[in-house]
Amino acid sequence: MVEADPAGVASKAADLVQNYLRSTSEPVLGLATGATVEGLYAELVHRFARGRLSFAGARAVLLDEYVGLGYGHPQRYSNVIRRQLTDHVDLAGRDVCSPDGDARDLAEECVRYEALVRRARVGLQILGIGRNGHLAFNEPGSSFDSRTRVVRLAEDTRAANARHFGGPRQVPRYAVTQGLATISRAAHLLVLAGGRAKAEAVREALEGPIGAEVPARLIRRRPRVTVLLDPEAARLIRYRRPSQM
Ligand code: GLP
Repeated sequence: MVEADPAGVASKAADLVQNYLRSTSEPVLGLATGATVEGLYAELVHRFARGRLSFAGARAVLLDEYVGLGYGHPQRYSNVIRRQLTDHVDLAGRDVCSPDGDARDLAEECVRYEALVRRARVGLQILGIGRNGHLAFNEPGSSFDSRTRVVRLAEDTRAANARHFGGPRQVPRYAVTQGLATISRAAHLLVLAGGRAKAEAVREALEGPIGAEVPARLIRRRPRVTVLLDPEAARLIRYRRPSQM
């Protein structure tokens, strides 16, 4: 299902998360980090504060993590997700897992995290799309068969994230990311994109030829996917709702 929605991407996404949390006694959420999902997390925190939803019994796994930032760094994704979501809802820290980008043995850490995600069986995976079409930190050219591994970040990804670090040079060069095959195992993919800068990546993901040059094309190979776009991100796609045709 693809919806290009004038307002309400965060609110519609929150509805889907809320329904999923209610649908099972042991929900497992896959969490992305980044500007795209901030509105969704704020909406979930808002609904929790008003008693409209609960994460009781839920667990969460993160998609990716920078390498070598240090445990206390504010941009470490495990810290970002605490600040934006988990510190404000009924989800205990021990129930939120992320790859450790500061592990001494990163190869071993990738094997550990791949097994952890497999065992966790993610029910709903929240995803943003990078400006270059990346998913998590699977940069263009990543194989659809890829597993959790250390990747070198593309220069445009580092440039896109420079604003969080005070400059492009401070952005780490490497990250640990779930692979595209790892992400594929989730039962339902919820893909969000907003803003003009994502329009090209969205068009490539939804309408370009299937192939790993654009990792986000993975979503066309999965049976259960919801894509929520604001009008700016949707402006280059040919798809229109039947009512608009
Ligand atoms: C980031 C993250 C992804 C995110 C994507 C889009 O670098 N690794 O998980 O979904 O790239 O980021 P943003 O939402 O900030 O545009």
